[in-house]
Amino acid sequence: MRVLSGIQPSGKLHLGNYLGMMKQCVELQQKGECYIFIANYHALTTVSDAAVLRQNTMDVALDFLALGLDPEKTVFFRQSDVPEVQELTWLLSIVEPMSRLELAHSYKDKIAHGKEATHALFSYPVLMAADILLYQSDIVPVGKDQKQHLEITRDVAVKFNLKFGETFKLPEAYIPEAVAIVPGTDGQKMSKSYGNTIEISGTEKEIKKSIMGIVTDCAPLEAPKDPESNNVFKIYRLLATPEQTQEMADKFRAGGYGYGEAKKELLRVFNEVFGPFRQRRAELAANPAKVREILLNGAERARKEARKTLDAARAAVGID
Ligand code: ADP
Ligand code: TRP
Repeated sequence: MRVLSGIQPSGKLHLGNYLGMMKQCVELQQKGECYIFIANYHALTTVSDAAVLRQNTMDVALDFLALGLDPEKTVFFRQSDVPEVQELTWLLSIVEPMSRLELAHSYKDKIAHGKEATHALFSYPVLMAADILLYQSDIVPVGKDQKQHLEITRDVAVKFNLKFGETFKLPEAYIPEAVAIVPGTDGQKMSKSYGNTIEISGTEKEIKKSIMGIVTDCAPLEAPKDPESNNVFKIYRLLATPEQTQEMADKFRAGGYGYGEAKKELLRVFNEVFGPFRQRRAELAANPAKVREILLNGAERARKEARKTLDAARAAVGID
């Protein structure tokens, strides 16, 4: 089974990225052959400062490696180090109707938030389809917001296969329901664009500030509270053990348990989960040359696979 996923180096990674996607990638290393890449071509649709892009790229690499991505097991690389993906994007764009791309939520959302409707933003899903199809991927771990991009990918693959002959495998999205949409500190989906994140590589002080800032109602301390409708609990249960989760739920229901206490408990569990990660990240950050070597080595392995699919696609359309 081949697992593939990518993440854009477009800002600091947060708990939503970790629970929604990165954790699955690290766990799936035990079950399949993993390809994980840093989607820097995609990030160019939002990041326009070269130094920032370089720094973000290094940050994503450090985060993934510190979380346990093993470069011996997983092919870990930068998207731009496999330029074959650009040629495949063109070959796929031949079969992808404009009308389908016009319906893409993520494109419509970005435009609605005032972003300029550039060609890159519009064709973003075709590049993403090329990322996935280039490696004949079976499953793609992502958060729920990427589901439609996976549907577009399958659709493109079916259209190409029909028109030019069987060339691509059809991939499946892998979206565990419990973490499909991780809530942010304000209760909306956690996202860097909403400023409601808890950053996984933040300093203890920054993490504390984000967690203490989680929005709650103003029910008095003594009042019994419904755990299912409060943000602190909704985030806590994603990190805590089932026993710890049950204990917090019971305390809320009983009354006499305030949000401040619950936030302190969330902070404690957060630090327990991410403490070792912070330590490993700091060690890796001291050796950026090693990180760059890992990525280049990954790119070399990725390119070999990419070449096979691209050659098949070129032959299928008649430009071999
Ligand atoms: P952001 O919304 O902060 O810009 P990205 O769009 O870069 O995050 O998402 C990177 C990956 O993390 C994707 O697979 C996405 O589905 C996943 N992801 C992001 N936010 C969440 C969330 N709140 N819950 C679950 N998964 C998420
Ligand atoms: N669009 C994805 C996101 O914003 C990133 C991405 C690019 C990706 N190419 C991919 C994810 C291929 C999975 C597979 O998170």
